[in-house]
Amino acid sequence: MPYSEVAFNLPEMTGLSGKQIEAHLKLYAGYVKNVNAIAAKIDEYKKDSEVNAIALSELTRRYAFEWNGMRLHEIYFAGLGGDGSMTGALADTLTTYYGTLDLWKNEVKAMAMMRGIGWVLLVIDRETKTMRNIWVSDHEVGHLAGCDVLFALDVWEHAYLLDYLPAQRADYVNAVFANVNWVATEARFAA
Ligand SMILES: [Fe+2]
Repeated sequence: MPYSEVAFNLPEMTGLSGKQIEAHLKLYAGYVKNVNAIAAKIDEYKKDSEVNAIALSELTRRYAFEWNGMRLHEIYFAGLGGDGSMTGALADTLTTYYGTLDLWKNEVKAMAMMRGIGWVLLVIDRETKTMRNIWVSDHEVGHLAGCDVLFALDVWEHAYLLDYLPAQRADYVNAVFANVNWVATEARFAA
């Protein structure tokens, strides 16, 4: 069954313009479209997987890029549009881990300055319930097997270039934290 775009009705945000969000949402829509298009092609090619082996394997590789692009953007946009406050069981747990919530945020911010395109993700290991900030290149390189994503920070330049220069990535990251909607993140942690 094809995947549908999630609708995000984000309010006006300081530091993240409507124009930037609109352009970014269009990119997100492209990931959903491509997930569906690639899945349809895979279905077609797998009718004769021997003949179509090369196309099938390349499309399968690309599916991971598009799929993670879709899902990570859904987590990212669900995490915006709030007042930046972070409270609840996850915030308490992070405070226990790091000493203060600001120390966790500082680690995210430091990792977000990584050269290149990708994401900083807060993930939790399903087995041990331990949490870790990780870097994912593109959308799919660097995920930790068995971990779920709780919080996603997009640091591809397309996420901020309409509002900030490439050298101002730190200002963009601060703007994201100022507009964090922590409710969805807490809900994923509770689940
Ligand atoms: Fe993005």
